[in-house]
Amino acid sequence: MTEDYFIGVHARELERLREQHAAWRTQTHALWARAGFTTGQHVADLGSGPGFTALDLAALVGAAGSVTALDKASAYLEFLQAEARRRGVTNVHARDADLTRVDPGTNVFDGAFCRFFLAFLIDALDGVLERIHRSLKPGGAFAVMEYLTLESATCSPPIRGFDAHTRAWIEYYRRNGGDTAVGRTLAPKLAAAGFEIGSIECVGGIARPFDPWWSWWGRLMADFGEKLVSDGVMDRADLRGLHEDWARVATDPHAFIHTPVLVQIVAKKR
Ligand SMILES: C[S@@+](CC[C@H](N)C(=O)[O-])C[C@H]1O[C@@H](n2cnc3c(N)ncnc32)[C@H](O)[C@@H]1O
Repeated sequence: MTEDYFIGVHARELERLREQHAAWRTQTHALWARAGFTTGQHVADLGSGPGFTALDLAALVGAAGSVTALDKASAYLEFLQAEARRRGVTNVHARDADLTRVDPGTNVFDGAFCRFFLAFLIDALDGVLERIHRSLKPGGAFAVMEYLTLESATCSPPIRGFDAHTRAWIEYYRRNGGDTAVGRTLAPKLAAAGFEIGSIECVGGIARPFDPWWSWWGRLMADFGEKLVSDGVMDRADLRGLHEDWARVATDPHAFIHTPVLVQIVAKKR
């Protein structure tokens, strides 16, 4: 698989994205309901990754509708195409596109969706939002689900390395041209791109050991800890302490975390 953005494109990351989708699936479907995504529509999944959301959207819009999944990681799109064939899904289409360069079209989609995507595009964000606006039909809804802040992440009881790990993620994104607080700038930027802002909601909160959100945050520590250390944004001693204490608090019946907070915005093309 290719490695073409700073989180990485490979088989283990694909499996992490599958787990991540399972952890946030209920909240994602609730966002689609608020956006009014429904049978017969043509919906775009922007920065779709391997297409776990695109496949759910394909079921939502049904045989009379269709989903176009756009991503620049061809390996993820190949997985989506194979998975669609395996499941007998015929209304999802994959399109290899770097959305900082490629225009998805004009007045083509009834709806558009993205999740964990805009945080990677900071320098190009205004232009991408304008492209997305242009790609929607008048009245089309754009449903966005992105980090509002990582600074809400905390652990009870306090453990070694937890806060250092959170700070490391914020810095890792920043050094690579991303922004883990992208959600703070989205409403005004969407308005500037021509959207009318509808609902604004937040998701995330308390998770206890082995809740899906607990496992989701723990998997980031397991999969990326070494990378954060080798990139110089986290100390090795903090990572070692984190791994030891995280394993210990997982057996503590009173332990809990508060997750990062994600913002969900529904914006309409006027
Ligand atoms: C963290 S993954 C999220 C995938 C999916 N949206 C989800 O929620 O499961 C981010 C995705 O954005 C894609 N991406 C990053 N920059 C992109 C760009 N400029 N154009 C298209 N896709 C991009 C990556 O290839 C990756 O698949």
